Formats: sequence, structure tokens, C-alpha cells
Amino acid sequence: MDANIKRFSMDYFSLKGKIAIVTGGNTNLGMSYAIAFAKAGADLFIPYFLEDLSETREAIESEGRRVVFLKGDLTDRQYRKDVVETCLKEYGKIDILVNNAGMGVFADFLDYSDEDYEKVMNLNLNAVYYLGHEVGKVMVKQGYGKIINIGSALSYTADGQCPPYVISKHGVIGITRDFANELGKYNIQTNAICPGFFATDVNKAVQDNKPLFEKISSRLPGGNWGTLDSLMGTAIFLASKASDYINGWNISVDGGFTTIL
Ligand SMILES: NC(=O)c1ccc[n+]([C@@H]2O[C@H](COP(=O)([O-])OP(=O)(O)OC[C@H]3O[C@@H](n4cnc5c(N)ncnc54)[C@H](O)[C@@H]3O)[C@@H](O)[C@H]2O)c1
Repeated sequence: MDANIKRFSMDYFSLKGKIAIVTGGNTNLGMSYAIAFAKAGADLFIPYFLEDLSETREAIESEGRRVVFLKGDLTDRQYRKDVVETCLKEYGKIDILVNNAGMGVFADFLDYSDEDYEKVMNLNLNAVYYLGHEVGKVMVKQGYGKIINIGSALSYTADGQCPPYVISKHGVIGITRDFANELGKYNIQTNAICPGFFATDVNKAVQDNKPLFEKISSRLPGGNWGTLDSLMGTAIFLASKASDYINGWNISVDGGFTTIL
């Protein structure tokens, strides 16, 4: 038998001893990645913005894992540097980065303001590049790392609700491929998760728009929006040794939405 087959074990999926940064890891999808990582053995560093922390803290600590929170705005350059420095001070390394924080501002295309365009692009696209770039420098020194960017079904399609959301999420795929190309030689893998539709704050306007909600639901082969536990296994996989030979790709967790005409 090939020696590599022989050495494979379920430990390839373990995150024991790993340190993971999950931006926006105290709400909704981000919370699901953070708790998934804690269950797989990682300690967490969570950059957060505005919301309550108690639920996330309790869930992570009840797994016997440690979590450190740092409040701030990821569109701010100094805060992004503080995230990296504080994580290094607290834990000494960064094994995993999940660029999850994101937003949408919904308005008709012809009325869309430049200010809202810039606000969404600065968080969903630019902050993903800049934080990934800062963390990438640390991972290069370490000689390994995993970067997971959060795209969307709207990384492949457009929905006429929020132009910069569609544009930025397409851009997240570009960042993912570029980082894979640049950082692959340092044993750093960069991949994306593209979630479909999960009922959270970010798409409240879609949920409230009945015709759009029904159009989306009718395009889901199973007919149902996603539940937050359905992303956790994919996040663990992409953060773990089990995915070491996957680099620059996007895994759609969307119930088949982007496969249907
Ligand atoms: N919910 C869905 O159906 C869905 C589908 C595809 C992709 N996504 C993506 O998943 C990610 C998480 O979305 P969610 O649904 O959990 O919504 P959410 O609103 O709970 O998550 C967004 C997070 O980003 C944080 N954030 C917002 N502005 C910030 C800023 N300026 N600086 C730092 N943090 C900021 C928020 O505090 C929050 O924690 C987003 O990138 C979103 O685009 C969500």
C-alpha cells in the first residue's frame, strides 16, 4: 500500500491546537464557523462590530476552548493591523483566517448612491484583501496557513438588489485565486465558501421582498433555504489538513441554487 494512504487518519480533519481568526464570528454564519472550529479543537480570535458576545463566548468556552474578542471596524487600516498584532500577542500564531464579515445596502440600481457603493466594497472586497494580505505575511513566516474567504451564490449570479454586493462577492473569488497563486508556494491554501441563502440580517431585504423570496426559493432544488449547521463541516474541512491539496477554489454550499437555470 502507498505510504500516504497508510498515514491517513480522521485526525486530518482535526483543528486541535490551531488558532483561528473569524471576522464577524459572533453573529449568524460567522458564529457557525467559530463554533465549528471550537468543536474541532481550535481556539478563536474574533474581530467583532457592535453585537453582543455572550452567546458566542459561552458556546466556545463550553467546548473547553479559549476565545479573545476585539471590537472595531474592518474598513479601518489601523484596526486591521491591531487584529493581527493582538492575535499574535494573545496566541503567538495565526493558523486560520476566515474573512466572513460582510454587508449589503439594498436599493434600485439607478438610485444607488456612490457612498453606499463604497461602503459595501470597502468591507466586502477591500477589507478581505487587506486583512488577508496582513495575515498572509504572518503565515509566510510560519510556513503554513489556511485562508477562507466568504463569497456567495452572488459570486456567480446577480439579483438586482445590491450592485456592490454582487460585484464585491465576484471579486472575492478573484482574491481567492490570486492569493492561492501568490501564497501557494509558502504552503498556504486560500479557498472560498459560497453560501446560498440563509435567513440572516444580511439578506433581510430579500426575505421581505415576497416575489424575490419566492423566485429564489423556486430555484432551490430542495425548495428550502439553508440552516446554519450546513456550513460548519465545509468550514472545518477547508481549515484542516484534509484539504491541503485544494487551493484557489470555491465550495458552494447553496442547496444546488447555482446549478439550476
Ligand atoms: N446569510 C446569507 O444567506 C449569506 C449568503 C451568502 C453569503 N453570506 C455572507 O456571509 C457573511 C456573514 O453574513 P451573515 O448572513 O452571517 O450576516 P451578519 O450580518 O450576521 O454578518 C455580518 C458580520 O459582519 C460584521 N460587520 C459588518 N460591518 C462591519 C465592519 N465595518 N467591520 C467589521 N465587521 C463588520 C457584522 O457585525 C456581522 O458580525 C457575509 O460576508 C455575507 O455576505 C451570507
